[in-house]
Amino acid sequence: WIAPTAALVLGYLLGSIPFGVILTRLGGAGDLRSIGSGNIGATNVLRTGRKGLAAATLLLDLAKGAAAVWLAARLFPGDEMVAAAAAFVGHCYPVWLRFRGGKGVATLMGIVLALHWPMGLVYAAVWLGLLASVRISSVAGMAAAVSAPVSGALFGRFDLVMLLLALAGIVLWKHAENIERLASGTEPRVGRKKDAAD
Ligand code: G3P
Repeated sequence: WIAPTAALVLGYLLGSIPFGVILTRLGGAGDLRSIGSGNIGATNVLRTGRKGLAAATLLLDLAKGAAAVWLAARLFPGDEMVAAAAAFVGHCYPVWLRFRGGKGVATLMGIVLALHWPMGLVYAAVWLGLLASVRISSVAGMAAAVSAPVSGALFGRFDLVMLLLALAGIVLWKHAENIERLASGTEPRVGRKKDAAD
């Protein structure tokens, strides 16, 4: 039980680093949780107008998910999925922010890339494709998350499907407010300030 517990702690500690909050504060752009949607992810950092900070948040939130899996594969072989789940939960429910964390889209992409990179490419294609066409971050993110268990099954990685289904379910759950805004037609598009939801 020592290795799985260590993988869990390592994953959670990595996943719970709130890069969006940290970078926004360090960049002098205020408290991310009182800006825009109040979410701690890259999309909301973008609403501060700081594209560099948003890109860094995206990359670091992605990297911490990938790092959890990568480190577990080397330190605790066989417990990669424990570390992956813990990193994801850490991002969505960080103890440091009283468990009010992000929506998991970038961190899940890092996890998927590290678990099985072709699935990560599918995830990225769905995400970026919808972001470029629909220009609504939540739609792109939710679709990418749902693509993960589907592509897991298509690639024959049935060992990953249950975990990915659960994580995609949490991504949808975390987007409850976005889904309400989508239903009422008030969800903002990326790159347009005038229809911001706040
Ligand atoms: O990854 C988060 C994104 O899907 C939605 O972010 O700030 O528009 O709620 P936000």
